[in-house]
Amino acid sequence: MKRTRLAVFCSGAGSNFKVLFQKAKEKKLPFEFIVCVSNNSQCGAMQFAREQGIHTIHLSSKTHPDPKEFNRALISKLSELQIDLILLAGYMKKITPELVKEFPKRILNIHPSLLPKFGGEGLYGLKVHEAVISAGEKESGATVHFVDNDYDTGEIILQEKVNVELTDTPESLAERVLKVEHRIYIQALEKVTLHQ
Ligand code: GRF
Repeated sequence: MKRTRLAVFCSGAGSNFKVLFQKAKEKKLPFEFIVCVSNNSQCGAMQFAREQGIHTIHLSSKTHPDPKEFNRALISKLSELQIDLILLAGYMKKITPELVKEFPKRILNIHPSLLPKFGGEGLYGLKVHEAVISAGEKESGATVHFVDNDYDTGEIILQEKVNVELTDTPESLAERVLKVEHRIYIQALEKVTLHQ
C-alpha cells in the first residue's frame, strides 16, 4: 500500500503533532511524516521534528516579506517533497486560497470547539474556551475538518464532545479538550486516508 506523505504545519507546542506521530508508529499506519512547516523555527513542534529527523521548513513574513513569494516558496517545497496531505496542528497563519487550490480536500485542521460554534478569525487557543464559558455552554469539544478559504468553515470530518463543568476555567477546559484532540485527530486522518 502506498504510504501517505504528510506535511504537518505548526506554530506552538506541537502536542497534536507528537501524538499523531506516536500513534501512527504504534498502530503501524501507512503514513510518512515528511516535513514540519512553521513560522516559528524555535517552537516545540519544530524541535520535535528535528529530534525525530523529520525535515523542517521555516517560512515566515521575515523570511518571505512578500506574501506571493511566501506562497510560491511553500507550494514549490511541498510539491518537491511530493506531499499528499497537509495537517494543520496549531498553525497560526491563514492558509491561502492558492494553497487550498493546490490541495483540495487535502488539508485538515483541528479546532478546540464544536464547530461551527466558536470558530472564526480571532478564536484560537484560550480565547475559544473563554468564549465557550462566557456563553454558558454546557458542552464543548474538538473538531477535525477540511480547510477551505475561510476560518474553521470547511466540511467536518470528526467531532467529539466534552462536558463544560460549572467549575471550569478556560485552562481546565482547554486541558480536557486537548485530550479529545489527541484522540480524534488520528482517527480523522485514518478516516480520510484509509476508509474513503
Ligand atoms: C490545539 O488546541 C489545536 O486545536 C489548535 O491549536 C492547539 C495546538 O496545540 N488549533 P498543540 O501545538 O498541538 O499542542
